Amino acid sequence: MKILFIGDVVGKPGRDILSNQIGRLKDKYNPTFMLVNGENAANGRGLTKKIYQQFLELGFHGVTMGNHTWDNRDIFEWIDDADRIVRPANYPDGTPGVGMMKLKQNGKKLAVINVMGNVFLPSLDCPFRTVDRLVEEVRDEVDAIFVDVHAEATSEKIAMGYHLDGRAQAVVGTHTHVQTADERVLPNGTAYITDVGMTGPLDGVLGMDASVVLKKFMTQLPVRFEVAEGREQLNGVFITIDDQTKRATKIERIHLDDQTVWFD
Ligand SMILES: [Fe+2]
Repeated sequence: MKILFIGDVVGKPGRDILSNQIGRLKDKYNPTFMLVNGENAANGRGLTKKIYQQFLELGFHGVTMGNHTWDNRDIFEWIDDADRIVRPANYPDGTPGVGMMKLKQNGKKLAVINVMGNVFLPSLDCPFRTVDRLVEEVRDEVDAIFVDVHAEATSEKIAMGYHLDGRAQAVVGTHTHVQTADERVLPNGTAYITDVGMTGPLDGVLGMDASVVLKKFMTQLPVRFEVAEGREQLNGVFITIDDQTKRATKIERIHLDDQTVWFD
C-alpha cells in the first residue's frame, strides 16, 4: 500500500499549487490512497463544501482537518453528509462529523483517524486514549491505519508516534506548517514525521502575510491576518507499507517550490 499525504493546504495559493502539481505527483508515486489536510483551505481558515469537492475531483480519497474545522460555518450544514472527511476525533460526543473513516481502494482498506493535541490548543478529550479506542475498534477490519495528529507541540506529536508504534502504520503531524526533517520508520513499523509542512504561500509567516504578522508582534494590536501572495510551496509525505508484514517500510518527505528542479 502506498499513501500520498499533502500537508495543510492554505487558501488559494495552496489550492493552486496543489492542482498544478498533483498530476506529476500521481505519476511519480502512483499512490493507492491520496489524503490531504484541508482545515486551512478556505482563505486560511476552514473548508467550504466546494473546496472539499474540488479535493475529491483532484483524486483525493479523504480530507483531514484540525482546530480550524468549524471556522467556515457552513460546514455544519454538510459535514454529516460528507463521507470523505474526518475532524478531530477527540471532540466531545455529539460533535458533528466523525473522527475516523474507512476507505477502500484496489481491494485495500485504510482507516484514517484525525486527532488534535491538547498542548497550546483548545482542550479536548485525551488524544492518546481516543486513538486507543479507535485503533481497537478498527484494527481487525482494515489493512492499515493512518493517523493525522494535528498538534502544536513537537513533544506531543512525537509521543503520539511512539504511543501508536506498531499499532498504526502511519502517524503524521500537521498544524505547525513547517516541515520537519525527522521522518523515520519507528522501531515497530510506524511511519512517522512531526510535521508534514503546509501547502501554500512560500513568502509569508505560516502562510499569512508577513507584514501583518509583524505588525501584530511589534504593536500587540488586533490585526486581520490575510493569506500571503507570491511564491508557493507544496509539502507532503509519501509512505510505503508492506502488505504482508503490515509495517511501514519507507516515509519520504516531499517539498516543492520554485527552487525545485521539476517545478514549473
Ligand atoms: Fe491547525
